[in-house]
Amino acid sequence: MAILHKRIGFLLFVFLLSSTFSISLSLTFSPSDEYLVNCGSDVDSTVDNRRFIADATTSNTKLFTSEGSISLQGENLSPNIPQIYKTARIFPTQAKYSFNVVEKGTHMVRLHFNRINSSKIDINDAEFHVTVNGHVVLRNFRGNDDDRVREFLIWVDVKEVVIRFVPSKDTTFAFVNAIEVISAPKDLIADMATSVSNDGTEKFNGLVKEAMEVMYRINVGGRKVTPFNDTLWRTWLPDDEFLKISDGSETTYFTGRIKYRPGGASREVGPDNVYNTARVVKRSKMSWDFPVSAGYKYLIRMHFCDIASKSLGTLYFNVYINGNLAYQDFDISYSADNVLASPYYIDFVVDDTVGSSITVSVGPSNKTSVDVNGIDAILNGVEIMKMNNAMGSLDGNVSADMILSSCPNRRNISIFIVMVAFMCIFMSFYIVAQRKKKVREDYGWTKLSMDVREDNLKSGNQFAARKH
Ligand SMILES: *[C@@H]1O[C@H](CO)[C@@H](O)[C@H](O)[C@H]1NC(C)=O
Ligand SMILES: *[C@@H]1O[C@H](CO)[C@@H](O)[C@H](O)[C@H]1NC(C)=O
Ligand SMILES: *[C@@H]1O[C@H](CO)[C@@H](O)[C@H](O)[C@H]1NC(C)=O
Ligand SMILES: *[C@@H]1O[C@H](CO)[C@@H](O)[C@H](O)[C@H]1NC(C)=O
Repeated sequence: MAILHKRIGFLLFVFLLSSTFSISLSLTFSPSDEYLVNCGSDVDSTVDNRRFIADATTSNTKLFTSEGSISLQGENLSPNIPQIYKTARIFPTQAKYSFNVVEKGTHMVRLHFNRINSSKIDINDAEFHVTVNGHVVLRNFRGNDDDRVREFLIWVDVKEVVIRFVPSKDTTFAFVNAIEVISAPKDLIADMATSVSNDGTEKFNGLVKEAMEVMYRINVGGRKVTPFNDTLWRTWLPDDEFLKISDGSETTYFTGRIKYRPGGASREVGPDNVYNTARVVKRSKMSWDFPVSAGYKYLIRMHFCDIASKSLGTLYFNVYINGNLAYQDFDISYSADNVLASPYYIDFVVDDTVGSSITVSVGPSNKTSVDVNGIDAILNGVEIMKMNNAMGSLDGNVSADMILSSCPNRRNISIFIVMVAFMCIFMSFYIVAQRKKKVREDYGWTKLSMDVREDNLKSGNQFAARKH
């Protein structure tokens, strides 16, 4: 009897524990820092249930500092574009947005660009650099149409995230349509990875403090996942356009519950919609090719979830990066703590100094089962992040200091012009005074000072002058 009571008590305890656990799993992630800004707008706008606040009316704390910034409203817009893409803030001079940070750690910084049409300003004249907390993230950027969202992962151990916009020349300007700054869950970026090269594999430490740009986020074998359906408001694209070798591969999907588990990937690392679809292959290798620019290290995150096997311990395969063996005899059941449909991810780092693309492959290993119905490899998702170079930059061999100091600082220029003007006035005083000695005429200097003032006006606000 006593034993029975104990047992019931224990079962009750387990039940309570597991139910609180599943409740906590189903809770959505709520970041400590979350700023969503609708730039150049005086009304807030809601996109996918997320409220982007207007930066033109943020009365309590102004988010940006800039001289002569302009709120631009797009004209002839296609009716179904999200509200945040209908306005932009234009910066003719260097400008910055500052966001207070309560939680140190990795922050997701997303910048939205849409080259809106306007009769007031020709957006084709935009060209600028962007830095985030001392990292160059965009250089000589023009807001090209195929780059509507650029996402960066920035380690923040200071009290704020500062995003600076710097026009690349005197005659250009910067713009942005919307900004997101969100503290990432602690488990999004781990510190350790496996680096893969022709010489084999070794441990890579210090990943968490690297600034990164998300280059590819792919839902293998599945559909596009939109921010609306993602735990961290990300976009995942289908893999079809990147799949290069796929003899005998097929897509598969799973309608059961994805079993998130401590020690594996969390729902924030990858949502159900990524793990419940995959591409599988028999007796062959599958390869994907991702074009990248040379001269950077890249983080390759591969997402696995065995939604295809009928039983545990039957799926072993090899993982290759750029043709190099990155993981031999990957035992997906063991890695997922002997649970089917439980997600797991592996981070690899490659140093891409020459190549123009990264090739990711999975294929049979020596341990592959002889079961004719079994599959030999699976992949559910892949992400590729560019890592900052030695200059702390994600876009070229320049540091943020170089960008900020080389930029034409118009305030200094206007001070210089004012000084020159004063000298001219002083000189003209002198000349007039000299002249007065000979002929008594006294309107010469007044005219000259008027000229100087007009010049000063033009140079000090060249942007306005150019756009009239
Ligand atoms: C700007 O206008 C052109 C021509 O009317 C149109 O093709 C283009 O899509 C517009 N761009 C945007 C961002 O609305
Ligand atoms: C969200 O996911 C569901 C189920 O996969 C899909 O039917 C729906 O269209 C998605 N919604 C958006 C906005 O992507
Ligand atoms: C199979 O095992 C041999 C010997 O251990 C090894 O040299 C070879 O690389 C392995 N092949 C694969 C595909 O894992
Ligand atoms: C980057 O620039 C620095 C200084 O300007 C130079 O010393 C270094 O060699 C450059 N590196 C590359 C990869 O070009």
